[in-house]
Amino acid sequence: MDKLEIEGGRALAGEVRISGAKNSVLPIMAACLLTAEPVRIRRAPDLRDVATMARILRAFGAEVERTASDTLEVQMGQACSVSAPYDLVKTMRASFFVLGPLLARFGEAEAPLPGGCAIGTRPVDQHLKGLEALGATLDLHDGYVCMTAPPGGLVGSDVRFDRPTVGGTENLMMAACLASGTTRISNAAREPEVIDLAKFLLAMGASIRGQGTDQITVQGAERLSGADFFVMPDRIETATYLIAGAATRGRVRACGTDAGSLASVLHSLAATGGELDVGDSHIEINMRGRRPRPVDIRTSEHPGFPTDAQAQFLALNCVADGASTVEETIFENRFMHVAELVRLGAVISGPRDNSVHVQGVPQLHGAPVMATDLRASFSLVIAGLAAEGTTLIDRIYHIDRGYEAVEDKLLVLGGRVRRVH
Ligand code: EPZ
Repeated sequence: MDKLEIEGGRALAGEVRISGAKNSVLPIMAACLLTAEPVRIRRAPDLRDVATMARILRAFGAEVERTASDTLEVQMGQACSVSAPYDLVKTMRASFFVLGPLLARFGEAEAPLPGGCAIGTRPVDQHLKGLEALGATLDLHDGYVCMTAPPGGLVGSDVRFDRPTVGGTENLMMAACLASGTTRISNAAREPEVIDLAKFLLAMGASIRGQGTDQITVQGAERLSGADFFVMPDRIETATYLIAGAATRGRVRACGTDAGSLASVLHSLAATGGELDVGDSHIEINMRGRRPRPVDIRTSEHPGFPTDAQAQFLALNCVADGASTVEETIFENRFMHVAELVRLGAVISGPRDNSVHVQGVPQLHGAPVMATDLRASFSLVIAGLAAEGTTLIDRIYHIDRGYEAVEDKLLVLGGRVRRVH
């Protein structure tokens, strides 16, 4: 099992090129099931989760090929199966996004209930509620969800989510594209990745309005065409490297990114005392060698502070010159990184009531630690980069799920990291 060895104590400095967004390319790959025509997805990051989704699509009979370092070609002709394999779904919750498109195109779909993961139970009740509202019948057996569309196909309907859900909104939006009539989704998720998926569906000929607001309207179509589409830059990868720059008192410039989707993170980064330079496709933070100031963080649905950047910012607060609190409102157990940060010398109390209190320390000290989930693993990378001495992070397959070429990008920024097999 690979480990990442980090020699800390040096400020990061330089430019990092941002990859395509993991949380956009995954639903977009699922949306390819909605058409028999070829689809080209550009700026598709080379990640474990993308490879997993490709294997799931192939299990249905799709052709999926990486024709360039950042380009995927997908074509889903006739289905040889409409059942998502358990051994793949159990490793990646996003696999559940295939349910809506499969059901809408082929009239039936089967997927194992995605298990929980380190950050929470992660139910899918809202996904099922939405698809049943379009007329699907649901049968649960042996840990599988089997859904069947009515004989004439799915029928548009009004659906109100009990709480905003990114995946639920995406699953339902995709299914509604081939349902007959109009579907209105209320209390929809407003995340930029939902907007990017809507843009992709529009490029396929779908009729969608309201994406990015909590009211999305989809007018169903008979069929959708292929598309040639550029995935949005990864806003969470952008936030991650900027936070790493601030935590190490450095100067980091994220290139090929979009500041529009990161207002809340940039507000918090400015509060550390870092100087921000924001352009059309770059964001730079310059600490001028100063130790970051602590910043209270409370995650919430977009446009609030993204839960996917919480663990990273917590690591920054561990070395800030004062006290702070970090509150997680989206997932019930997204503090698995706390115990590992404490091993590096962080002073953190909690979690209690989904909050932790951090007392920043002048210096962390390297130690062996273990990654527990994707974003927690980068929290440990940031702490290791800021610490004196050597940090060895185990189970870094978590990082490879969502961060493309992580050691190459850190080396370019002056990070002293190496992958240990
Ligand atoms: C997406 O997960 C992202 N993953 C997550 O990123 C991200 O943290 C999350 O949205 C929130 O922004 C992908 O896009 C692949 P949700 P998703 O449905 O869709 C509860 C990362 O690190 N809920 O918006 O699974 C759920 O338990 C990953 O890149 C229900 O109760 O998130 C959670 O508490 C981690 N019932 C909350 O809603 C449901 O039917 C938000 O979940 C669905 C969700």
